[in-house]
Amino acid sequence: MYSEKVMDHFTNPRNMGEIENPSGVGTVGNAKCGDIMRIYLDIDDHQIIRECKFKTFGCGAAVATSSMATELVKGKTIEEALKVTNQAVMEALDGLPSAKIHCSLLAEEAVHAALWDYAQKKGIEIEGLQKPRSDIHEDDTEEEY
Ligand code: FES
Repeated sequence: MYSEKVMDHFTNPRNMGEIENPSGVGTVGNAKCGDIMRIYLDIDDHQIIRECKFKTFGCGAAVATSSMATELVKGKTIEEALKVTNQAVMEALDGLPSAKIHCSLLAEEAVHAALWDYAQKKGIEIEGLQKPRSDIHEDDTEEEY
């Protein structure tokens, strides 16, 4: 059912944890399954993502897609990171079962929400980036962690 890559990223997730004083942080959730994903970004003055970490409270595919998403955006410019779509994450994982596609969508949304937070903090606009639909704020989720 799951590819070897999915199993690998699930059992040995990359970049799990958090970044202190991140340039941007985004938390998103899926109301149906209740899974929550948070992505932290450290972005330098040249708008390059130096560090990316995640914390996921969710299913195995959500862990694998967040792990892969952090790997894909690390070292990229903001512009390049925006191209890391859920499709790109799924391809990098050699696919996901159709019932798990929404997990990869959560990864894309979490990266976008973290970039949005960065843009808000910097007072800049990132072309092509839209306000995240399901950004969850710290206070709302505190009890769940
Ligand atoms: Fe919802 Fe995986 S089942 S994120």
